[in-house]
Amino acid sequence: MKNIKAIIFDAYGTLFDVNSAAEKCKDKIGDKWEGFANFWRTTQLEYTWLRSLMRRHKDFWQVTEDSLNKSMKAYNIDPSMKNELLNLYKVLSPFKEVPETLKILKKKNFKLAILSNGTPSLLGGLVKSNNLDNLFDDLFSIEEVGIYKPDSKVYDLPIKKYKIEKNEVAFLSANTWDVSGGGNYGFNSIWINRNNSIFDNLDYKSQYEIKSLSELTKLI
Ligand code: LAC
Repeated sequence: MKNIKAIIFDAYGTLFDVNSAAEKCKDKIGDKWEGFANFWRTTQLEYTWLRSLMRRHKDFWQVTEDSLNKSMKAYNIDPSMKNELLNLYKVLSPFKEVPETLKILKKKNFKLAILSNGTPSLLGGLVKSNNLDNLFDDLFSIEEVGIYKPDSKVYDLPIKKYKIEKNEVAFLSANTWDVSGGGNYGFNSIWINRNNSIFDNLDYKSQYEIKSLSELTKLI
């Protein structure tokens, strides 16, 4: 990969572990915590896509709460846990290799940014609570364009701000559909496949696949 000027990261599921909120409550939720966490995440993403198609935008925090309400009913979770789960979602933990890798990349001459469905305040809170706030040049939020990924207006945001070409971006996501979205847009799209998953059939063949973010320093 040559001439990379900006390294752009997806946030949820890529830098931050979306299951960590439910996992921190696993003593109260019991064995079903993981099924519940996956259902919550899937519903949350479905709502982003459906709202974009319906042109009925609600921000990611509202979508996260709406999807939590459905998921708690589906998994019979005590309603009194709702605020705890939402508060934990604001301070999701990063995957373990993330802080160190970002620090290494920061010393090189790249723009480092997040490009995410999250609202500016959610993204700001996430990086701050994990002491990662001084590592990024920008936190790009889809709220600037009012439509969710994978709309191309979202992927335009760093291109417009940095005045660079699409192929000068390395885009990293653990979400296969987001890798396809960024790749179809024209980014060098890199899939972080931590769990030996299967890629999508969405007109993009992932050229670069890594198992952990730490492998990125060998690719670029
Ligand atoms: C995000 C979602 C895709 O951070 O995880 O944009």
